[in-house]
Amino acid sequence: MLQITTQRTTTPKAKPDESSLGFGVHYTDHMLIIDHDEEQGWHDARIVPYQPLELDPAAMVFHYAMESFEGLKAYRTPDGSIQLFRPDKNAQRMINTNHRMCLPSLPVEDFVQAVKAIVSFDQDWVPHAEGTSLYIRPFVIATEPHLGVRTSRTHKFIIVCSPVGAYYSTGINPVKIFVEDEYTRACPGGTGFTKCGGNYAASLISQVKAHELGYEQTLWLDGVEHKYVEEVGSMNCFFKIDGTVYTAPTVGTVLPGVTRMSCIELLKHWGIPVSEERLPIADVMKASHDGKLEEVFGTGTAAVISPVGELRYEGDVAHINNGEIGEVTHKLYNTLTGIQWGKLPDELGWTV
Ligand code: COI
Repeated sequence: MLQITTQRTTTPKAKPDESSLGFGVHYTDHMLIIDHDEEQGWHDARIVPYQPLELDPAAMVFHYAMESFEGLKAYRTPDGSIQLFRPDKNAQRMINTNHRMCLPSLPVEDFVQAVKAIVSFDQDWVPHAEGTSLYIRPFVIATEPHLGVRTSRTHKFIIVCSPVGAYYSTGINPVKIFVEDEYTRACPGGTGFTKCGGNYAASLISQVKAHELGYEQTLWLDGVEHKYVEEVGSMNCFFKIDGTVYTAPTVGTVLPGVTRMSCIELLKHWGIPVSEERLPIADVMKASHDGKLEEVFGTGTAAVISPVGELRYEGDVAHINNGEIGEVTHKLYNTLTGIQWGKLPDELGWTV
């Protein structure tokens, strides 16, 4: 159990207009920080006014990308209370990431306690407008000033929070996806399954390429053969072909998304066949031309459920469901957001 001290800001900020929050633009009045070093372990947990960090320019995070992060949301329910969605899953994923990145982790209970503490302290910042939420960004950084390549002896765990609207400016409208066949996101044995900043930094070149071609995001293929679908820039990806829903297996190169996991559980609960076998991109394009590619959608905490309207692969274009949102995509979106915002009963016990 953490002992968390608190210091309230004397200069609270004006709250942003809830009708145009965007994603990751505004930050709340406070942040949570916990220090770590070899002698004391995690210590000095505190909530303080939101402020810049003072770090030595030689801090290892700046040089060797020694960091990890998480993303989850707090939702305002119809009765005005606030709930989290499966925060223990984020806590466990951060432990898995940190193990791969040689960073220290908080135990699951302490991670969840820290999230609850900062959300509760900044509860007035959890927005009320339809479709809005408070995005919570926990992260760990290596702070020791040292230029040799080795593990760090000091770290910080920090949480900042941001009131958000839709991740894509298009809202729940279908996004256009470019299938990347030149660059690689992840290889077996690498860091693809982790939430480390480097994965996202290395993906930007493809995002820029996709934007130049008029596409919003990149769909990554496996790093060995560039043959099997893996994940989209900020989402896991699902394909409904001839009644079965396919998504890439989480075998080390794909992020094990909490929304991904929840969608698979819901689909199975509804009796819809789900396959986590590897799916060749060629099969996706063929299914499209055979009229069997029924739905494609991305899932993520930030993006929620995001329908895909078009896929472009090596000059071949698949138009999905005439740009309409598919039935399963719709049902997943309504069920998941219904549970998250407390509008539907939480029969699976996912909210806290
Ligand atoms: C999330 O969905 O929480 C993410 O972390 C995706 C992205 C904003 C990096």
